[in-house]
Amino acid sequence: MQDTMLTIRTNSPIGTISPRLYGHFAEHLGRCCYEGLWVGTREREIPHQDGFRSDVLQALQALPVPLLRWPGGCYADHYHWRDGIGPAESRPVRLGMSCGLQVEDDNSLGTHEFLQLCKLLGAEPYLAGNMGSGSVQELSDWLEYCNSAVRTTLAWERAANGSPEPFGVKLWGVGNESWGCGGNYDAVQYAKEFRRYATMLRHVDPTAELVAVGLEEPRPFAKGIEAEWNHKLLAELGPHIKLMDHLAIHYYWVLGGPETDFSEEEYYALLDDAAATEAVVRHTAEVIADATGGRHRIGIALDEWGVWHPEARPWGPRGAAECRSVITYEQANTMRDAVATGIALEGFHRQCHVLTLANLAQIVNVLQAVVMTDGPQMWLTPTYHALRLHQPHLGATALPVDIAHGSSLANGSSAVSATASQSNNGIAVTLINRHWDQPASVQIAGVDGMGTASGQLLAADSPRATNSVDEPNRVAPVPLNVSRDGAGYRVELPPHSLATVVLQAGR
Ligand code: AHR
Repeated sequence: MQDTMLTIRTNSPIGTISPRLYGHFAEHLGRCCYEGLWVGTREREIPHQDGFRSDVLQALQALPVPLLRWPGGCYADHYHWRDGIGPAESRPVRLGMSCGLQVEDDNSLGTHEFLQLCKLLGAEPYLAGNMGSGSVQELSDWLEYCNSAVRTTLAWERAANGSPEPFGVKLWGVGNESWGCGGNYDAVQYAKEFRRYATMLRHVDPTAELVAVGLEEPRPFAKGIEAEWNHKLLAELGPHIKLMDHLAIHYYWVLGGPETDFSEEEYYALLDDAAATEAVVRHTAEVIADATGGRHRIGIALDEWGVWHPEARPWGPRGAAECRSVITYEQANTMRDAVATGIALEGFHRQCHVLTLANLAQIVNVLQAVVMTDGPQMWLTPTYHALRLHQPHLGATALPVDIAHGSSLANGSSAVSATASQSNNGIAVTLINRHWDQPASVQIAGVDGMGTASGQLLAADSPRATNSVDEPNRVAPVPLNVSRDGAGYRVELPPHSLATVVLQAGR
C-alpha cells in the first residue's frame, strides 16, 4: 500500500458551496411523490405529518434537503397547478404522465401540500413550470398565486386555501427538457417562447429567479436532438439574455452496466461517467461566458443528475436488453453509486463559482433515491449516507486539494481523491478511495494549526453491497480513526470507500 498525500490549499478559496448544490428532485413519477413522500392525511397505518410519511421526513430532515424541485421532470409539462389546490375531494383525477407511464393522478399532493413539505424539511422550493401544455397566463397566475402580496383574487384564493402569507417561491423553471419530452422545440423556437414567458413572469414578480431549459453537451445517447442548443438559445435571446438567471442541464450516468451485477471494468466506467459531470458543467460555463461576455451572470442549474441503471430505462446503453418488463423507474443503489456520488460532489465544489444549483434525481424510491420505502418499512440507501457525509461542506468555502498519489488506477489517475472546505467549524475533508480492491493510506497536509480531528467512514465488503428492507444497515457510516502525522493527519481507507474528516481549529 503506497501513501497518498493530500495538501489542502487554505489560502486559495474557490468559492462558497451553496446549499443549493445539495438539492433534490421529487417528480410525480412512480412511487416517488405518491407513496414515497405523500400518503395522504387520511392514512391510518403509516404515521405521517400533514400527509407526509414521518419516517421519510425524519430521514430527510437529517440529510439535510436544502432545495427541492417539483413536480417534474417531464410531468411538469402536463401539470396544471389549479388541479392541485382547494378541497382534496373536489380536485380532478387526471392522467398522470411522465416518461411513458400513465396513472390515475388525484392531485391530492398539490401546491400547498408541496410547500408545506418544504417547510417541514427546511427546503427551498423550486417549482417547474408547464410550457409544453400550459400557457404564459397559467404560469403567470401560478407565480401570482404563490408570491403576490397585493390583495388580488388569486392572493385571496391562496389565503382561503390556508396560506394568507405569500410563499415567496424564488426559483421557477420555464419548461423541462423542452428539446424532448417538454415539446420537442428547436432552440430558436424555445428562445422565443422563453422570452415571452420570462418577460411576463418578471412583470408579476421581478424577484423570481428564472431557469431556462438548456442541454448537456455533448449528449451522445439522444438521437435527433439539436446540436449546440445552449449556444443557439443564448444567441437568439440577444439583449434579452438578462431574463435568464440559470440555465438547466441534466446529466445521468448510464455507462456502468448493470445495477448490482457489474464487473470491475463497469465499476470504473460508472465512476468515470460520474467524474465527467464536471466536464459537462465546465463546458456549459464556457458557452455561457462566450454568450454573455461576462456582462450578465447566468448560473448553471444541474437540476437532474445521478445514476440511471439499464434495469430502469428502456433507452441508452444496455437499456433495451436489460430494462425490466414492468418499468417503475426503481433501481438498486450500491456502494458503487455512493462512491460515484462523492466523485460528482468533488466536481460540484470545484465548479461552485459557476454551478448555482443541483438536484439529485430523485428523492424517494425512484432512480438514485436516498430513501426507499416498502409499505410501512423504510431504509436509507448508500447514496443517502454519501450525501450525509458531505453535510459539513454546505455553506462552507471550497478549497483546492493537491494530490501526490501513491496507488494509481489503470488510467494513471490517483486512486484517492478529495474535496475540502473551510467554515467557522474548521476544515472538512471528504476523501474517496476509488480503488476496486486496494486500501489506501492517506496523509492530510497543509492544515497546520488545526486541532481535534474526527472522522466518519462509509465502506462495504463489496462495491456491489446495497441496503434493503431485510438488511437496512449493510452500508452505513462508522467512526474513522484519524491519527496525527507530523503537522498533518493520517487515515486508512478501505477499497471503494469514502470518508469525511473534520478538523477543528486550535491544538
Ligand atoms: O427523472 C426522470 C426523467 O428524466 C425526468 O422526468 C426528465 O426530465 C428526465 O428525462
